[in-house]
Amino acid sequence: MFEIIKRDGLARIGVLHTRRGKLETPALLPVVNPKLATVTPADIYHHFGFKGLITNSYIIRNSKGLKESALEKGLHELLDFPGVIMTDSGTFQSHMYGEVEVSNDEIVDFQRDIGSDIGTVLDIFTEPYWTEEQTKDSITVTLERTQEAVALKGDMMIAGVVQGSIYPGLREDCARSMASMDVDVHPIGGVVPLMEQYRFRELVDVIIASKKGLSPDRPVHLFGAGHPMVIALAALLGCDMFDSASYAKFARDDRLMFLDGTYRLKDMQGLECECPACRDHDLESLRALPDEKRMVTIARHNLYELKKEMGRVRRAIMEGSLWELAESRCRAHPALLDGLRRTADHVDHLELFEPLSRDGAMFYTGSETLSRPCFRRFELRSNERYSTDLKKCAILDEKGKPHGRYMGQELQSLLSQNTLPLVKTAFGPIPPDLDEIYPIAQSIFPSIGDDGMDSEIGRKEDGFLSAHGLERQEPVIDEEPYDINRLRALSVSRYQFGREATDILFDGPLELVVSRKTGKIRNVLVSGEHILSMRASDGFYTLRVEGAMKLVDRLTEPLMRVTVVDDAIPFNKEGRNVFCNFVHDCDPDIRPNDEVMVVSKEGELLCVGRALLVRDEMLAFKKGVAVKVRDGTSSQKA
Ligand code: GUN
Ligand code: ZN
Repeated sequence: MFEIIKRDGLARIGVLHTRRGKLETPALLPVVNPKLATVTPADIYHHFGFKGLITNSYIIRNSKGLKESALEKGLHELLDFPGVIMTDSGTFQSHMYGEVEVSNDEIVDFQRDIGSDIGTVLDIFTEPYWTEEQTKDSITVTLERTQEAVALKGDMMIAGVVQGSIYPGLREDCARSMASMDVDVHPIGGVVPLMEQYRFRELVDVIIASKKGLSPDRPVHLFGAGHPMVIALAALLGCDMFDSASYAKFARDDRLMFLDGTYRLKDMQGLECECPACRDHDLESLRALPDEKRMVTIARHNLYELKKEMGRVRRAIMEGSLWELAESRCRAHPALLDGLRRTADHVDHLELFEPLSRDGAMFYTGSETLSRPCFRRFELRSNERYSTDLKKCAILDEKGKPHGRYMGQELQSLLSQNTLPLVKTAFGPIPPDLDEIYPIAQSIFPSIGDDGMDSEIGRKEDGFLSAHGLERQEPVIDEEPYDINRLRALSVSRYQFGREATDILFDGPLELVVSRKTGKIRNVLVSGEHILSMRASDGFYTLRVEGAMKLVDRLTEPLMRVTVVDDAIPFNKEGRNVFCNFVHDCDPDIRPNDEVMVVSKEGELLCVGRALLVRDEMLAFKKGVAVKVRDGTSSQKA
């Protein structure tokens, strides 16, 4: 069983519950060759802290001595590894050397019998040069074998490999079929040649297509991804597990892995690495080590580099800065930059998982940033949900953020002349009533623009003006004061909750409580009732039970609602969190961190809170929090 602890878009911090205990993801599983362990499994676990490894059951089965002792003692004792052991099936050997002499049922039985925690189907490796026809036929066989493996797996978890070469349609279909089977982990297979040949744009297509077909409640493993340079990008696209044979393979060729690539020891002109393996060396002393010692030292260096990057990626997910990390990692090589740029083609899918806001500010790191889903989100919502009675607009250059603080007088003056002032930004033109929401105020751009930024500004301006029927005119600034807070109160609500909800919420005499210190809206009262509070951090509202009471009888179903099963009703009324296994249904338009109303199947309001997951996730997961609840209706006074 898999559960999500924290997410940032498609990326997630999760826990895979196995019979060997918990495996936290994103997880890197070092590959251990059962015949020669360059770094011992015990060291991998205790010293490096990798709580899982992957080894090859086909190699074990083909070696008489290993086979017998694996069957007798079990894999964990054989390898002396207390953590989670995943085994591969021989598919990679068939990719490398041709046919393998084992059948699917034999190798699945064997993996189960030696006590593997996660066994793998003998899938067919779909090569990137295969035709679509050939790929399709082989997937049929892989799916049959997966079905067979599910029947044989017993207590072992089974990994069902998504194949499909470079054909996104086939990948998605294969993934969808896999998702309908009782499979526990989904590796994305057949991608090693893409990574070896630095075909990262195709890798991105393949990952996204596979993710679209898979069920969100199962961890996704990127088979053969074990270079630190690619981890951040793959995690960003929703890969939870990785494996690395390269740490040892490269070490055998005197090659060191770094975040920006792989370097040959003989070509390196210095060694500035401070990892525990390199710390006591300079270039000369490392080169001078005896062969075996040098190989082990480099393998350890490679593992330290991987460990560090896994920690860094984890931290970035926790802090909401994985996009920035992936953007900076992808600048290490033009082919990786291609991969990053390719994510632009998938922005509409990525937007489905994009949170309403993040804790920290969004950084512009280059023109690729413009294709981030937070830009798409703002464009969509400001075109579809914003509304204004004004017919004229004026376009102003940005002088500082939030706009109200730096350009307050210009904005107020134009509004008092019935002209909507719009500030030019890379997100699009920003009306004065949306200047404080994420990511408009919470973003940092270089002061020196670039062509990408400039053309984006123009494109979005046209879109917004036509969406709202605005006519552009030259700004005339005088000193008329104008209170934009009433506009802001409505516009933020429309952006966040939609137009219909806003009409209902604001139906009545409006009163705003404004901070005396900052001038910012704190509370919104309608007909004397405090229905919304505005957060200073991201400029959005928290919905209060009083507001939800107004909405729940009038807002079209299923908008803004998470419906729970009857068993959960008393708990949620008391203000306890909503767990996934109690979710009955959910509004498909809800995005992570959106405010939601939790209701019974009869439509009774139970509590209000913040959605952590989207609909498909809430329905798929059996464990974990779906809605972080703030207030229950029974904690309210009557
Ligand atoms: N190791 C690397 N790629 C693959 C793959 O596609 N299938 C399996 N089973 N193992 C792999
Ligand atoms: Zn090092």
